[in-house]
Amino acid sequence: MYRIIYKSRSVAPLNWTLVQDIIMSSEPRNEQSGITGVLLASETHFLQALEGKFEDVNALFRRIFRDDRHEELTLISFSVIDARLFRGWGMLGIGTFNLNQEIESELVEKYGEEDGGIRFPLEEWAALSLINDIKLMRELPVWKQ
Ligand SMILES: Cc1cc2nc3c(=O)[nH]c(=O)nc-3n(C[C@H](O)[C@H](O)[C@H](O)COP(=O)(O)O)c2cc1C
Repeated sequence: MYRIIYKSRSVAPLNWTLVQDIIMSSEPRNEQSGITGVLLASETHFLQALEGKFEDVNALFRRIFRDDRHEELTLISFSVIDARLFRGWGMLGIGTFNLNQEIESELVEKYGEEDGGIRFPLEEWAALSLINDIKLMRELPVWKQ
């Protein structure tokens, strides 16, 4: 089993409609090919983790790489894993836009600031830590089909 994590910049300002579009079409495809994962979206960037078999993760990453809705794709990690972190999620979408000020300040203090929002980190441990911090904040907008 493998996990890929990457960060990219959206070509258009991100909002829920755009993120939902991606999640809605991803969820059934990912379930079909045994891929699980999470997609974080700020107003400007994506951070995505994908877990599954070597061939499946690679095939999906190739499709995503070609997608013209984003650019500046940066590979954060490609790791062998013993177990999935995102079991049960074909693709969980989490938006970090319109956060309450207190939470945003806390996360900006911890992870840094980029384009007026929380910086999505380029280190694997920090990326997983941010995903986990955000997952634990139940009041955040989380979208699941
Ligand atoms: C940030 C981002 C994340 C995406 N995540 C997935 C995903 O997890 N699964 C998926 O099937 N497609 C995902 N897509 C869509 C793919 O890039 C692609 O459009 C889709 O798989 C259809 O590919 P095809 O037109 O080559 O068949 C994502 C697109 C973007 C921009």
